[in-house]
Formats: sequence, C-alpha cells, structure tokens
Amino acid sequence: MSANDGLPIFLIGFMGSGKSTYGKRIAAGLSYQFIDLDKAIEHGEGISIAEIFAQQGEAAFRRIEAATLKQITGPHKLIACGGGTPCFEDNMDYMLKHGRVVYLKANAGILSTRLIKNNGGRPLLADKTEEEIKAFVSSKLAEREAYYNKANIIFNAQEEKLSMLLHQLR
Ligand code: S3P
Repeated sequence: MSANDGLPIFLIGFMGSGKSTYGKRIAAGLSYQFIDLDKAIEHGEGISIAEIFAQQGEAAFRRIEAATLKQITGPHKLIACGGGTPCFEDNMDYMLKHGRVVYLKANAGILSTRLIKNNGGRPLLADKTEEEIKAFVSSKLAEREAYYNKANIIFNAQEEKLSMLLHQLR
C-alpha cells in the first residue's frame, strides 16, 4: 500500500525554496506523480505565468491558480504549488481538507541569495535590484508565513534529512 492510501500531498513554500527539486524527490520516494502547479497553469492557458501577469494581471492569475489547483488534485499526486498559492482564495483550507500539506521552509537569506542568482523570469521579481529583492523576500516571507505555518508538516531541508520526511509521509 502506498502513502496514506494515496492522499494528495501539497508542497508549499516561498519562491526559490526548492519545491520542484524536493517535490520530484519526494514523489519518487513515495511512487507519487509529480505535478508542478505553475506548469499546469501554463499548459492550460497556453501562455507563460509572466504573460498571464502582464496581460491579465495578478488577480486573474490567482483565480486561474485556484481553479487549476482543484482540477489537478487527485490521489497519488504530489503538487508543487506556487509560492503564493496558500495565501490566496480558499487554497490553504482546500489543501488541508483534501490532502497533506508540507511546508518547505528556508530562511530569507538563503531565498534571497538564490533568487538574486536566478529570478527564473518570475513576474514578482522582474526589474528588482539585489537590495529590492532582499527587502521584498523579507517582508513577503514574514507576511506569508502565517499561511505556510498552517501546514501539516514543516520541513527545513537545510537542517533535516529527506529520508525523515519520507518516513513521516509513508
Ligand atoms: C509566485 C510564485 C511563482 C508563481 C508566480 C507567483 C508567488 O511560483 O506562481 O510567479 O506569488 O510567490 P514559484 O514559487 O514556483 O516560483
């Protein structure tokens, strides 16, 4: 039998926390299907996340994000969410109700360093200087942790072993 009868797993965390990398590893370890919510949105809309923000605005993106989350949720699926997913609409309540939520925690210093090195074309970071990215990450992370901390499991990849997380999820 697989993890908790295949209850969906939602991986949340700030931009740059490693949701794709760890999500793929966790999914492989549990024989789950890995799904990236941003990629599912891009596939569904036929344009990039940056284009959705530019053409339709963030509010429209959040509506599409919430709808897509609900479409792709299913058994034996690990969904790597966008950094803002738990903080909009009823997404966090929905995830807690329908599966298990894992917060991939990293501190503002680590996140800023990674995002300065590579902003990944993320619309919320576009045109920001290093100093602006640092300030943005600190304030947004502080604001979003109220949502992130509601997760069933908090995993700090810098301090904890992946094998322990897999054990908890099995
Ligand atoms: C966002 C994070 C992005 C993407 C969008 C908005 C956010 O996902 O959903 O650019 O609000 O933090 P990643 O966390 O995968 O970069």
